[in-house]
Amino acid sequence: MDSNIELDRLRFQAGSIFTPRSPINERNLFAGRIEQIKRIMEAISQKGSHAVLYGERGVGKTSLSNVLADFLSDLQQAPLILRGNCDASDTYSSLWKKALADISIPHIKQEIGFNGAEKIEQQSIISTLPEELSPNDIRIILSRFRANTNVIIIFDEFDRLSDKLVATTLMADTIKLLSDSGVNATILLIGVADSVDKLIEHHHSIERALIQIPMQRMSSEEIKEIILKGLNRLTMNISPEALEEIIDLSQGLPYITHLLSLGSVNATLDDKEKTISTSHIKTGIQNALEQWQQSIKSTYYAAVKSQQPDNIYKEVLLACGLAKVDELGYFTAAAVRLPLNQIISGKNYGIPNFARHLKEFSEERRGCVLERTGEKRRIRYRFRGPIMRPYLTIKGFSDGLLTKEKIKKIEQEFSQPS
Ligand SMILES: Nc1ncnc2c1ncn2[C@@H]1O[C@H](COP(=O)(O)OP(=O)(O)OP(=O)(O)O)[C@@H](O)[C@H]1O
Ligand SMILES: [Mg+2]
Repeated sequence: MDSNIELDRLRFQAGSIFTPRSPINERNLFAGRIEQIKRIMEAISQKGSHAVLYGERGVGKTSLSNVLADFLSDLQQAPLILRGNCDASDTYSSLWKKALADISIPHIKQEIGFNGAEKIEQQSIISTLPEELSPNDIRIILSRFRANTNVIIIFDEFDRLSDKLVATTLMADTIKLLSDSGVNATILLIGVADSVDKLIEHHHSIERALIQIPMQRMSSEEIKEIILKGLNRLTMNISPEALEEIIDLSQGLPYITHLLSLGSVNATLDDKEKTISTSHIKTGIQNALEQWQQSIKSTYYAAVKSQQPDNIYKEVLLACGLAKVDELGYFTAAAVRLPLNQIISGKNYGIPNFARHLKEFSEERRGCVLERTGEKRRIRYRFRGPIMRPYLTIKGFSDGLLTKEKIKKIEQEFSQPS
């Protein structure tokens, strides 16, 4: 195709379009999620309503909150969006101060001297606040905004707060107070499902004020939209088979879609072509695996190492990665059975054949890749880190343990009512 300069330009551009490591912040590259946006709009438009958006890691929560402003700008009155990203050192007060950091208020300053004139200066609101904030302080601050300004306060990673009980209790009180006093502000909490359960569990009084918005994995149509929007921007194409392959491998996780798309685009440009084919995806997968965090790779090898030639650690771990999980990410031994018997076809493994493997995966000697919880007969497992599951799928595919057909079959069987 075109000159090397054009190839380099595309390669450079691809890195800012397919971004597996960072959330989307541009509406034109954002795909799907119509239902969730509609429900957030609902919360914003109804006085006294607040919202909580929750879902598993990497499903696209931050991206949605980033492009919210673009969607809302279609409305007559653009809202004021304040953000506070929670981290483990945050308390209720520090969180609100983060959100209010950019707000300033007029302050009258007297010039020095007897006839000193009065001068109005802008002063950061934070400098006027006490060290510890209470829900009532927040109510007063938020009710000071002009009556027709829609204020939206987004708290992302709400599950990362250290003193969860205190902070969630205060946040629940704030939601109740704002709701009861009709302040024109909407709080949007974002987190993984555990945090939402805790929030509601202890604070039933806010249930009515809080619109709960689950964020599931993306549909195949939504994943397709991510790929096509990105490629369209790059003026590149993809063959129908290659498109289907990325969709199947993504398993509804936009994170993988970005990773595989970027790897495949680069492989295609290496061949001086502009249409992605299945062979480019193969190379793309290798690129993706090489770039995966070293810590994930080491945990993987620690988990599956064995001297026995006919061991099934790799297969069982991969089956864990494909097992159906509950909304907290936990799966049972029974849920591992179906994918395992697809991965190793021709045999019929029962739970006793792999129970030992599951137990070992939660022990030090196999890198504690899984965490184990619950009493006998109700034991459940989940992966310690969120990106092990996508790694397993892609690695399984690259090692030949998994094929597109097997993934399809597993998905089909899971979607049957049990
Ligand atoms: N609607 C979307 N359209 C296109 N790409 C998306 C979309 N949603 C998410 N992504 C991509 O998926 C990846 C994960 O998204 P994001 O960081 O928003 O997820 P998250 O749920 O906030 O994750 P975490 O729980 O780790 O904070 C990013 O690479 C992002 O670019
Ligand atoms: Mg996020």
